[in-house]
Amino acid sequence: MSKYHIKTLEEYFQVYRQSVRDPELFWEEVAEEHFIWRKRWDKVLDWDFDKPAVEWFPGARLNITENCLDRHLTIRRNQTAIIFEPNDPSEQAQHISYVELYRKVCQMANVLTEMGISKGDRVCVYLPMIPELAITLLACARIGAIHSVVFAGFSAAALAARINDAECKLVVTSDGSFRGGKTIDLKGIVDEAMKDCPTVDHVLVAQRTHTKVNMQDGRDHWLQPLLDNAYKDCAAEQMDAEDPLFILYTSGSTGKPKGMVHTTAGYMVYAAYTFKNVFQYREGDIYWCTADIGWITGHSYIVYGPLLNGATTVMYEGVPTYPDWGRFWHVVEKHKVNQFYTAPTAIRALAKENLDYVNRYDLSSLKILGTVGEPINEEAWHWYDENIGKKKCPIVDTWWQTETGGILISPIPFTTPTIPTFATLPLPGIQPLLMDEQGKEVIGNPADGRLCIKFPWPSMARTIWGDHKRYRETYFSTFPGNYFTGDGALRDEVGFYRITGRVDDVIIVSGHNLGTGPIEDAINEHPAVAESAVVGFPHDIKGNALYGYIILKETGEDRNQDNVRKEINDLIAARIGPIAKLEKIQFTRGLPKTRSGKIMRRILRKIAHGQSDQLGDTSTLLNPEVVQEIIDHAI
Ligand code: WT7
Repeated sequence: MSKYHIKTLEEYFQVYRQSVRDPELFWEEVAEEHFIWRKRWDKVLDWDFDKPAVEWFPGARLNITENCLDRHLTIRRNQTAIIFEPNDPSEQAQHISYVELYRKVCQMANVLTEMGISKGDRVCVYLPMIPELAITLLACARIGAIHSVVFAGFSAAALAARINDAECKLVVTSDGSFRGGKTIDLKGIVDEAMKDCPTVDHVLVAQRTHTKVNMQDGRDHWLQPLLDNAYKDCAAEQMDAEDPLFILYTSGSTGKPKGMVHTTAGYMVYAAYTFKNVFQYREGDIYWCTADIGWITGHSYIVYGPLLNGATTVMYEGVPTYPDWGRFWHVVEKHKVNQFYTAPTAIRALAKENLDYVNRYDLSSLKILGTVGEPINEEAWHWYDENIGKKKCPIVDTWWQTETGGILISPIPFTTPTIPTFATLPLPGIQPLLMDEQGKEVIGNPADGRLCIKFPWPSMARTIWGDHKRYRETYFSTFPGNYFTGDGALRDEVGFYRITGRVDDVIIVSGHNLGTGPIEDAINEHPAVAESAVVGFPHDIKGNALYGYIILKETGEDRNQDNVRKEINDLIAARIGPIAKLEKIQFTRGLPKTRSGKIMRRILRKIAHGQSDQLGDTSTLLNPEVVQEIIDHAI
């Protein structure tokens, strides 16, 4: 039996029980067997969910890149580490071997050092899906700098807010990026952000689109010439187990984004362990996750998890629709992909198109399919199973979060029976539970409630950058003594979990996690807007879309409402990014409020869902009369 590579359901239950009985022994054995440590830990775990404070492998010293790179230089030196598949299919794919990746990472690490970056400094990475992105993350880790990747679809304002929150000293970006038929002026966005980023000394610019950009003397530097002159070796900084590895921002219900802090040893152990088990990765397999490295999925399951396992990982620069709807399947055929991991929103969009786009390609290399980011509906699950997996590839519906660092609930392929819409069983070491609204654990099966985790796991985020109080309040105060996920879930008769969606003010649109607070803040900046409330409603392809209820100021001016709609969406795109645009905007004279002045979103949600006949109790409202008006004008 190997807990590092579970192969039967019986084995799973054995390993799971062992992991719960003695979690410390369990993770100690995983950590001992599979990694290079410079110094062994003094202890496996120290934890207290009240403070909250969690430390895994305290006292250990290591560098994660020695585990991603150096370790592989003997036996798989010339094996491909990264396959880069460009946006344009006529451009040649690049195969970067482990030894080449090692050298590139060392060169980049040396460039960062030359630019004055050292251990503990924050580096913002605002790059498209090109090899430099993965290389920069590893280079930061090599010298102990903390990377903070900002998805290259975020606006200048969103970028600046993240750079300032983490006080980054340096930004790595590119001249531009290719997204399908479009070219995006990334450097222009960075220039805009830089007007408001006093902590940034240097901006390194990779060349991708070869478009003309502005280079500010002293601040901006072309990356390639610096790399060309840099040494191809760089000693790895010895890090403490709990030194931060990276910050990654996720939206909250209110206010500014939360910079989730992930630390070194626990994250490494968990990313490696879950990658191996959830994708049943075997030597020689080609693995492809279509996410962007700007999200946690890309951090853990394009870069760290695969490289820690010596895998070959595909990095795709483009979009699913370019040059046509067959691109994903073309890439699967071209690189003979064995494990394919994508988001339900992509599956739903592809399933709407002609099956010829699928059937044109040989998908026989596929062994395992995965989904992540939002609940997958039954129809999409079956389409994926029948047309892509040809009913031979288990689908792993993997549930997790930016905060969890790695997959927590998921089938193990060829082991756990899969059921459409069920993420199924917790991975070893994960102890989920369901809570009712009164904060009592729901015991027995079947059950439903709020999903919590009662015991720490190695890759959990340790804090919110600069705001530990918010970390405690957001995750550990709703159900004291437990980590609260923000999700609702069902547990069936046999104990399989089905995630039903967010129970807080976060809305998942096309797999992107969006807080209503920041969107409302952006809307309210419009001079004509008095107040607003944003809720989600079901959408065929996006899963959820955004519905905004907006009260306009009475200015006496006769404003064209469609113009205002457009201006509001432009404002949202500028403040957050185009993904946060409102699908529907309803202008209204009032919003339903409680006597304490809180907007009753429950009612707005029902109306947006087209369920105005199921509003429930509205008697506690301060202004029940606005409800009918909103229903009458619902879009
Ligand atoms: C939220 C976290 C984890 C990487 C991508 C998203 C939802 C995620 C599933 C799934 C149902 C899912 C949850 C979660 N979610 N995976 N398999 N089934 N819902 O990371 O942006 O931090 O979002 O995504 O609501 O809380 P994220």
